Amino acid sequence: MTAAGEEARRAEARRRRTDPRPDVVRIAAVGDFHCGVEDVGKYREHFARVNEEADVLLLAGDLTRRGTPPEIRVVLGELADVRIPILAVLGNHDHESGRVEEAKALLRENDRIHLLGSEPFELNEHVGIAGVKGFMGGFGRWTLTAFGEAATKDFVGTTIEEAQTLEFALRRLPTPIRVVLLHYSPTVDTVIGEPETIHAFLGNDRLAEPIDRFGATVVFHGHAHHGTFSGKTAGGVPVFNVSLSLIRQEGVGEMYYLYEIPIPADARREPPATMEPAPATSGAPESA
Ligand SMILES: [Fe+2]
Ligand SMILES: [Fe+2]
Repeated sequence: MTAAGEEARRAEARRRRTDPRPDVVRIAAVGDFHCGVEDVGKYREHFARVNEEADVLLLAGDLTRRGTPPEIRVVLGELADVRIPILAVLGNHDHESGRVEEAKALLRENDRIHLLGSEPFELNEHVGIAGVKGFMGGFGRWTLTAFGEAATKDFVGTTIEEAQTLEFALRRLPTPIRVVLLHYSPTVDTVIGEPETIHAFLGNDRLAEPIDRFGATVVFHGHAHHGTFSGKTAGGVPVFNVSLSLIRQEGVGEMYYLYEIPIPADARREPPATMEPAPATSGAPESA
């Protein structure tokens, strides 16, 4: 971001501090900052500013390079000054060391951090957030199908399970505004810019089915570092690729993208839809 852009961003933040609008929810979202053990202090001041600029911080996965406990401790240090709720999903990099349960337990030591899955998060009576990591598989008519070898069926089944877990979480949210957080993309729109040969490894539009069915308000995801910043699902839900490198490349933020959602005066809660047992989620290590 240019110096002028940064000053404008700070001025807007100052305005918000003196004009807190209860009819707006302010979301900060970022993914793919890939902390390594040498990154102590690299993001701490940037993240501390979020307290004044947003009501909630969404982390779209790939918080670390390999998901090791020392890397997770670095992430906890970078987030130590954040005083607003932090909602997170993990990414493929956070699974790489095979210690994902240890990583989750460490992250939960910060009681502001909520890891999303079958359990959604209600920020307030108007706004809820549902999220899963998601998985790959491709888009449109070229989506991989569960046909042939058991390994292929397992691969496709992983995305289907992730989509079912997201559906379950969205079904449980009574809030009129439903925000979705993913690591993988639910639309080809926001992976365009990456080599076409790897699009199928960057997301799957099966993830968009519950998003469209439950009329989500907006989606944030990461993973496609060199994709496109904004797009839509087939059903027209806005989707933002908030990979840190892309946010900086587009000049839409320094550490996170800020997105405001107006809360309509007549916003009403809905009773949760009938619940069914949550499917188990799985997250095999992946490349990229
Ligand atoms: Fe990443
Ligand atoms: Fe990733």
